[in-house]
Amino acid sequence: MPTTCEKRFSVQEQTFVMRQLTPHDAEVYLKFFNRLDPPTIRCRYGHMVSQLTLDTARQIASLDPTWEPALAIFQEDASRIVALGRFHADPSTLSAEMAVVVDTSMRRLGLGRVLMESLIQQAEQRGLAQLHAYVVTQNAPVQKLLRTLGFDREEVEPNSHPFDDDVKFTLQLIA
Ligand SMILES: CC(C)(COP(=O)(O)OP(=O)(O)OC[C@H]1O[C@@H](n2cnc3c(N)ncnc32)[C@H](O)[C@@H]1OP(=O)(O)O)[C@@H](O)C(=O)NCCC(=O)NCCS
Repeated sequence: MPTTCEKRFSVQEQTFVMRQLTPHDAEVYLKFFNRLDPPTIRCRYGHMVSQLTLDTARQIASLDPTWEPALAIFQEDASRIVALGRFHADPSTLSAEMAVVVDTSMRRLGLGRVLMESLIQQAEQRGLAQLHAYVVTQNAPVQKLLRTLGFDREEVEPNSHPFDDDVKFTLQLIA
């Protein structure tokens, strides 16, 4: 069974705790979302989401972590989420779609990489074969990060994805 243990680490003299989001975190998760600026929301959620309600935050925080884990990085005192990464797995195809977002004020500290590496590890623990990420064409930072983690850009059929300006990256996992 996959593990969802807590990981404590420090970057530039700040201590963070990374763990699975729980329903108790819904309010602090909503505050995290409400601090994101529109370009960040566009990069992370595409055209699908512009606002989040407390009910939706509770639903997301209550998803079954077996197939839909949501990893949050908290400040040490747990008062604030600074980064969040999730994947949604389809057990019938052994594939999952992953996305991460880091608070604008906390970028280039390595948090995005830590989250993605942990999500990859969780995908491997669940026996998944592929991890995908859809990213906006112009989003160079995340494309660079995905490539350094071993993801390859996949050619997709025109109109096969709802958003024409998204590109698909795939990581083949070793079974
Ligand atoms: C993409 C994102 C998650 C990166 O988070 P981050 O914590 O700043 O990234 P890291 O500090 O872990 O950086 C890891 C690597 O990514 C690349 N990278 C990150 N930001 C970059 C930037 N602004 N320009 C160029 N490369 C960048 C670099 O290769 C970097 O390694 P380095 O610092 O050793 O050069 C963050 O910019 C973000 O939340 N963007 C908006 C949401 C989004 O685009 N999500 C993607 C949907 S999957």
